Amino acid sequence: MGVADITLTILLLSLLAYPATSTECGGSLTAQHGVITSPDYPAPYPADTDCTWNISVPQGQVVLLTFDRIDLNPFPDTPEKCYLHMIEVYNGTDEAANLMGRFCGQTPPPAMMSGGDVMIVKFLLNRWPRNDELFTGFSASYKAVRPELNSGCGNLALLTSQTGTLASANFPSSYSSGAACKWEIAGTNVTLSFHSFQVGGPFSQCSGNTNDYLAVYEEFSNRKSLIGTYCGWNKPDDIHTDGPMIVEFMSDEAVNDMGFFATYTATVPDPTERPTMIGEEGRPWGNETSAGVHVTLGELTLISCLALAIKL
Ligand SMILES: *[C@@H]1O[C@H](CO)[C@@H](O)[C@H](O)[C@H]1NC(C)=O
Ligand SMILES: *[C@@H]1O[C@H](CO)[C@@H](O)[C@H](O)[C@H]1NC(C)=O
Ligand SMILES: *[C@@H]1O[C@H](CO)[C@@H](O)[C@H](O)[C@H]1NC(C)=O
Ligand SMILES: *[C@@H]1O[C@H](CO)[C@@H](O)[C@H](O)[C@H]1NC(C)=O
Repeated sequence: MGVADITLTILLLSLLAYPATSTECGGSLTAQHGVITSPDYPAPYPADTDCTWNISVPQGQVVLLTFDRIDLNPFPDTPEKCYLHMIEVYNGTDEAANLMGRFCGQTPPPAMMSGGDVMIVKFLLNRWPRNDELFTGFSASYKAVRPELNSGCGNLALLTSQTGTLASANFPSSYSSGAACKWEIAGTNVTLSFHSFQVGGPFSQCSGNTNDYLAVYEEFSNRKSLIGTYCGWNKPDDIHTDGPMIVEFMSDEAVNDMGFFATYTATVPDPTERPTMIGEEGRPWGNETSAGVHVTLGELTLISCLALAIKL
C-alpha cells in the first residue's frame, strides 16, 4: 500500500465514521437551509420514538422542503393509506388545522412549501414500533425561499428536475374549496403518471370545466394548448407532451375529494441542476449522495485535514 492508498483508506474510513448528524430525531431548526433525515439514515431507522422537526425561517420567507429519498413501510397501500409509519408535514404551528400531507412508501412527496415562516415535519412510528423489514427512512433538505414559488397547493410551482411529484393540497386528506393551483414541468419529453385520482366525486363530469378538475396543457413559446381535462375517480392514463407541461387544478365550493398524487419524468437540459443538499449556493453531492453517505462541509474539511496530517 502506498501513501496515497493509506490516505484514501483513512479518508474512506473517516467518511464511514462520520455518517452525518442524522442520528438526531427532531429538533428546532432556524438556519437558512439544512438537511433532515430519519435517525441513523441511510441505515434502517429505529422505530421507537416519533420525531418532530420545527423549521422556522426569517419572517417574509417561507420553508421549501425537498425530499431526496423516502423508504417507509408502505402498508397497507401507498400513497393514500399510510397506516404504520409515515411522514406528516404541517403548514405552521397549528397542528390541528394545518396538515399539508401524509406520506409513506417509496415515492418521494412533492417539494412542499409552508404558507408562513414555520413548517413542522413529523416522522411517526408509534403505531407500529418495529422496523423488521429494515426500511431506511428519509432524507430531505429545506431552505428559506420567497413565497411566490408556491403552486397554490402548498408545493413548488416550477419543476425542473428529471423526476418529481405533484399533488393536490393536503393529500391524502381532502383539498379545500376554491383551489387554483398551477405547476409547470420544465424540459422536454414529459410524462405524467397518476398514482391516485379522486377529483370532484366518483361520477363527476368535467366537460365545461364547471366542477373540480385537472387540466393539462403543452406549452409552446408562451402559448399553451390543452391536452385534456380530467375529473371523477378514474385514474387518467399517462399523459405525454413533447415540450414543457402545464398542469392546473381548480376546485369549486361543492364536493372536496381526496385529490391526486402524480409523478413525472422529463428530459431536462442539465440534470445536475437538481435541488442540492447544501442550498442555493452549494454544489450537488453527486457521488456522495448516490453512495448514501451524507457529510457536511465542516466534516469534509476536518477529514481532509486529518488525511493531510497523516500523509505528512
Ligand atoms: C416552533 O418554532 C416557533 C418559532 O420558533 C415557535 O413559535 C413554535 O412554538 C414552535 N413549535 C413547536 C411545536 O415547537
Ligand atoms: C398554509 O397556511 C397559510 C396561512 O398561513 C394559508 O394561506 C395557506 O393556504 C396554507 N396552505 C395549505 C396548503 O394549507
Ligand atoms: C422520452 O421518455 C421516455 C421515458 O419516459 C423514453 O423511453 C423515451 O426514449 C424518451 N424519448 C426521447 C426522444 O427522449
Ligand atoms: C461520479 O463518478 C463518476 C464515475 O464513477 C464520474 O464520471 C463523475 O464525474 C462523478 N461525479 C461527481 C459529481 O463527482
